[in-house]
Amino acid sequence: MEKQAPPSPLASAPPLDILILAAGLGTRMRSATAKVLHRLGGRPLIAHVCRSATALLKEARPIYIIVGHQAEEVGAAARAELGEEGAVFVTQAEQRGTGDAVMCAREALEGANSTLLVISGDVPFVRAETLGALVQQHRTHRGHGAACTLLSVKLDDPTGYGRVIRDAEGRFERIVEQKDATPEERQTGEINAGIYCFETRLLFDALERVRPENAQGEFYLTDVPGILRADGEDVSIYLHADAREVSGINTRVELAEFERVLRLRTLRSLMLNSGVTVIDPQHTYVSPDAQIGSDTVLHPNTHIEGRTVIGEGCEIHSGTRITDSRVGNGVTVKDNCVIVESEVADGCTVGPFAHLRMNARMEEHSAVGNFVEMKKSRLGSKSKAMHLTYLGDAEVGERTNIGAGTITCNYDGKAKHPTFIENDVKIGSDTMLVAPVRVGARSVTGAGSVVTEDVPPDTLVAGVPAKVKKKLLHEETQAVSPENKNAEEVTTAVTGGE
Ligand code: UD1
Ligand code: MG
Repeated sequence: MEKQAPPSPLASAPPLDILILAAGLGTRMRSATAKVLHRLGGRPLIAHVCRSATALLKEARPIYIIVGHQAEEVGAAARAELGEEGAVFVTQAEQRGTGDAVMCAREALEGANSTLLVISGDVPFVRAETLGALVQQHRTHRGHGAACTLLSVKLDDPTGYGRVIRDAEGRFERIVEQKDATPEERQTGEINAGIYCFETRLLFDALERVRPENAQGEFYLTDVPGILRADGEDVSIYLHADAREVSGINTRVELAEFERVLRLRTLRSLMLNSGVTVIDPQHTYVSPDAQIGSDTVLHPNTHIEGRTVIGEGCEIHSGTRITDSRVGNGVTVKDNCVIVESEVADGCTVGPFAHLRMNARMEEHSAVGNFVEMKKSRLGSKSKAMHLTYLGDAEVGERTNIGAGTITCNYDGKAKHPTFIENDVKIGSDTMLVAPVRVGARSVTGAGSVVTEDVPPDTLVAGVPAKVKKKLLHEETQAVSPENKNAEEVTTAVTGGE
């Protein structure tokens, strides 16, 4: 069956405005952090809602967002999703209920002859298609459109939600909140999802008449549909089949459950659509925004975060975390590595216990091994740093070997300085490279050298501080090339071990 596009609003219909409610603290989260800032799949809840909302808009139109608790952080999270121009923020100074929250946008919206879609900031799974279907029903209700259309679902356990009460004919009558409902009303399994369409003018007209006369002493937005109905306006109900999709998150238990659902959904898609092997889906964590190529294997307890892209045929071993990074094809990342905002090209080997961060870049077929840290550094093609090394602010050329225990001393207590190590160099074990410094092509440093001055090409240096011992002949530099089959032996002789 062909995938259905979201229904398009009628040509003659008033324009669509969108309002997201995100001012509340979310008391039930028991958190110092506003509820909509809690993360699901690595992104704040508000960002999920913003993404679906903006997908619905046919033309560029700002989305109105009611902010209050941690307004600045909530604003930043929304802007990260919608762009600077994509959102207009309205402050609700005191959180007096969802009705009061919408009322805050009166000045901004009342004049607009629009249809207003109101969404809670805590329904992260809601899809643009569903919002589109709600708007469509609202606009076509009885051929002329409704004053209000609310989205409802049926739940086995409706505890905590506002119940949708229908009259004897099954038409909308009113919404009653859990705390205000009679025992009979609480039996109703149909609940208000907190997503509505209103004709903007009628909404504000009715909101004026909302009173905080209820168990919570709040201005309930949920009173508005009942008021409109009593006014003789058409209120329509869009009964949605998928309860999970439109459920709000109110507690950390629900947040964890949503996380589990999203995680398994993401892994399922990776397995079915992308051809990724996930050995143990219960213990594998992949961001919904990550991309992974076919025949890549994710071992248990791997964390692939943010917008990480991993190529084909890679092996990512246990205990590894890769965040906002790019990994090429045929890469092996052994156990317990951390790769953050870095790049690993095709055919590289990383770890075990390696740390790449702040724009570290490994070029094709290079390797870093046990307890190696790379920061803001480049390791050239076929180069290696296999043991106990720190490369910071360093540029390493091709086919160069960095011996065990090498450190680029990049920080003098005030500033960071660069180290350049050119092609085909052999850095002996335990070499300290005191930056700024350059080691020329095909040169060699002896074990334990402290290199404080530039080393010319084809030169052997050794000692503390390192001094030139001799110029290397072509045959000697050939002998220490990692591609030479005797390399191991000769390297040991000259530099005291890899
Ligand atoms: C609300 C509905 C309830 C519905 C449920 C669905 C009301 C009175 N009740 O209840 O019928 O079943 O959602 O999830 O609307 N907010 C503000 N300012 C405020 C209060 C809330 O911006 O003063 C925002 C919150 O940040 C949140 C949204 O409104 O994003 C919903 O608030 P919440 O407290 O979660 O409402 P519920 O009690 O869940
Ligand atoms: Mg809620």
